[in-house]
Amino acid sequence: MNNVILQLNNISKSFSGVQALQDVSLTIRRGEIHCLAGENGSGKSTLIKIIAGVVLPDSGEIIINGQTVRRLQPIDAIRAGIQIIYQDFALFPNLTVAENIALNHELAQNKRFVNWGEVRQVAQTALDQIKVRIDLDTTVDRISVAEKQLVAISRALLQQARLLILDEPTTALTHREVESLFQIIKGLQPRGIATLFVSHKLNEVFAISERISIIRNGRKVVDTAAQSYDQSEFVYSMTGRRFDEQRYNYQAAAADGPPLLRVERLSAPESFADISFELRAGEILGITGLLGSGRTELALALFGIRPATAGTISVHGKAARIASVQDAIRYGIGYVPEDRLTEGLFLSQSIARNIVVRTLDQLGGAPRLLSMSRLRQSVATWVQQLAIKTSSPELPVRTLSGGNQQRVVLAKWLAGAPRVLILNGPTVGVDVGSKHELHEIIKGLARDGMGLIVISDDIPELLQVCNRILLMRKGRLAEAFDRSHVTELELTAKLIEA
Ligand SMILES: Nc1ncnc2c1ncn2[C@@H]1O[C@H](COP(=O)(O)OP(=O)(O)OP(=O)(O)O)[C@@H](O)[C@H]1O
Ligand SMILES: [Mg+2]
Repeated sequence: MNNVILQLNNISKSFSGVQALQDVSLTIRRGEIHCLAGENGSGKSTLIKIIAGVVLPDSGEIIINGQTVRRLQPIDAIRAGIQIIYQDFALFPNLTVAENIALNHELAQNKRFVNWGEVRQVAQTALDQIKVRIDLDTTVDRISVAEKQLVAISRALLQQARLLILDEPTTALTHREVESLFQIIKGLQPRGIATLFVSHKLNEVFAISERISIIRNGRKVVDTAAQSYDQSEFVYSMTGRRFDEQRYNYQAAAADGPPLLRVERLSAPESFADISFELRAGEILGITGLLGSGRTELALALFGIRPATAGTISVHGKAARIASVQDAIRYGIGYVPEDRLTEGLFLSQSIARNIVVRTLDQLGGAPRLLSMSRLRQSVATWVQQLAIKTSSPELPVRTLSGGNQQRVVLAKWLAGAPRVLILNGPTVGVDVGSKHELHEIIKGLARDGMGLIVISDDIPELLQVCNRILLMRKGRLAEAFDRSHVTELELTAKLIEA
């Protein structure tokens, strides 16, 4: 039993009446790769925070390296080698890569002066350990999400990590980046470093984990070896439901009239070039491509964040000049960004306020004309439609689980009733059950006449919800696929083809 790093016994925790965890037990062994799965709001992040000493459980026992720890504090967890990589990575954006990795380490030595040469050297060694190359002198606000994660991991390893905990580590990564992250995690195993990670992506869970624990409504329902576990059983254990997704059958609302959105030869230097396509009412158009393919830049141009410099956009047959977000909104275009955890929400404000903020914006500062009861009604409708798990819409968004915060962003945009809605990675970080629900909502919006663009590199998702899929490569449209004429395998192969 001395290879057990961490043992949790019967942990319970409630937040003002919400039972987040009940009687959860968990064992983590040396070098083990353990997946923690569960629907949005099931209690995963809460459990992780308890292990980190950030949240105190109401009851239960925590045993670290064979010793029972009472009132575990963050510093105890760190001393015991427990390192958590949070979703926002907790890095300092205006410090360099080297400083982010090594400053803690340097400060811990209790010296009077920081030795900057040493900082760089320590940082370099840490990056070498995971065989990664990132420019040490770049400030962290200028590196990619994947690189930020690697910086956070290197920093964690420097603190003698024995257990690395990753909360949804692959959310903002592309296929290749996920692959290399997995290589790094596997590389830690021979050194006895265990990894506990939260993921909603089935293929990933099965690709890497040795053990799987599933939490449903705050209770542990499964704890098993991954090898012998079946994928459909996994989904069922997580959700308590069986799924059978229908593909979306597009009925062009007015195939002879002008398209809702027409883009012709749109270009923006160093982002994308010569992009042309049409979107009709009732259509769901998928856009896929690897990171750097220009897919997000295209969306940003359509939404006026980084306007295109050449080419034309027309909405309902009329030329549309989109030079700002205000322009885009005026033409009825909405955009749900990729990086929802940091963009678009006021975490300390109520769920209700966050949902109606767009609508208020659109009314151009005349909120008094809108009756409070109608606003409340609208909020209630979206909370219910998107099944946002909360005891009251008046609570701050901060109290919601990650996946539920994402739904608030979606609700905010839907409440503004756009004609064209661009969704960037709409179900990233969303559990399988909710993913199914979100897909149904997207199809419902199309059925009601909205035109939707779904940007994603989740191929099964694109095939489920889209009518057509455009593939971007190096800033250009490489190929277009009709959903009924392409398989998942073909499309995946096309996607990763350089
Ligand atoms: N500080 C808090 N105050 C009130 N309720 C909270 C707080 N933190 C968590 N909760 C509630 O506890 C439950 C579990 O939340 P938790 O964040 O652990 O879920 P999760 O499994 O991580 O979900 P997700 O996949 O969406 O990130 C949710 O109902 C959430 O609203
Ligand atoms: Mg969470």
